[in-house]
Amino acid sequence: MTESKNILTDTFGRKHTYLRISLTERCNLRCTYCMPAAGISLSPKSHIMTYEEIYAIAKEFVDHGVTKIRLTGGEPLVRKDAALIMEKLASLPIELAITTNGVIVDKFIDTFKKIGLKKINVSLDSLNTDKNTFITRRDYFKKVYDNIQLLVKEGFEVKINCVLIKGFNENEIIDFIELTKTQALQIRFIEFMPFDGNKWDLEKLVSLEEVLKQVYAKYDASSFIRLDDAPNDTAKNYQIKGYKGTFAVISSVTNPFCDSCNRVRLTANGQLKNCLFSTTESDLLTPLREGKSITTVIGKAVQAKQKVRSGMDTLEKFKDPDSHNNRSMIAIGG
Ligand code: 5AD
Ligand code: SF4
Repeated sequence: MTESKNILTDTFGRKHTYLRISLTERCNLRCTYCMPAAGISLSPKSHIMTYEEIYAIAKEFVDHGVTKIRLTGGEPLVRKDAALIMEKLASLPIELAITTNGVIVDKFIDTFKKIGLKKINVSLDSLNTDKNTFITRRDYFKKVYDNIQLLVKEGFEVKINCVLIKGFNENEIIDFIELTKTQALQIRFIEFMPFDGNKWDLEKLVSLEEVLKQVYAKYDASSFIRLDDAPNDTAKNYQIKGYKGTFAVISSVTNPFCDSCNRVRLTANGQLKNCLFSTTESDLLTPLREGKSITTVIGKAVQAKQKVRSGMDTLEKFKDPDSHNNRSMIAIGG
């Protein structure tokens, strides 16, 4: 079995123990940084992995060493059989987590509790109703905010994903941090990344450095703590002394964390992406449907993984529009 375990270790010695599975390309929001205004053309339903196929592929990864699975989308919870899929995946020896926009998360509290899913990341980019409506192109701020409170009350480990965009929400960084004074939340500020159709521009980037500048200006150096990051953590973690929650910055653009990358992604139509930024994919669904083994395809995809961001190793490379010829984020799954 030793040999087959190696299929998830790449040429740089990185062990891929974390699989992110997108359950659907659909979403009940339309975030501007995630998808083009006109929407995306959805894969035909027959090209989307079924419940059984998701389980079969997930099991293959788990058999080769994956220990953590995160469900993403689109919005994973809009898929009709989302609860069923979660229950089935929870039977595998893994830690199961989910990233959701929070709009209908209240309907899944019982499922989460039943299967022991504790880690929930919720997207929230502004604490202002109108700004939320602008960025998500839908009016669900109150619902999402209330659901975040509900999740915390119910004892889940809640992280808030806040994509920072210059001129939009960088003036709310301190407000978000202040939420952690009384609430056991982790706020994760995410540097804005380029994906197909999201009008990315370096000028719109709010960097890790800029976040810290605001923090230093607001808080006393002695009350600002740099926390230890978990192994393979994509975030740099901080806390204001005495506050219940913490905050973090995910600096994928200015300070990539590829050295310790342990993740691969499976899109809803069964394509394996060895990196968020890769513009190529490996089809797992077709061979699976043909009754062929997918082990070799997975191994090849992992072996082909590049050292840094699929070759986007400098900030300069982001300026090349060709580097944005990826899927839209909604069709990758965050
Ligand atoms: N840049 C950074 N983060 C993004 N997300 C979606 N699009 C982008 C982008 N362009 C994040 C959101 C969401 C998660 C699934 O991916 O924060 O929570
Ligand atoms: Fe939906 Fe999340 Fe994309 Fe927003 S960021 S459109 S909530 S998938």
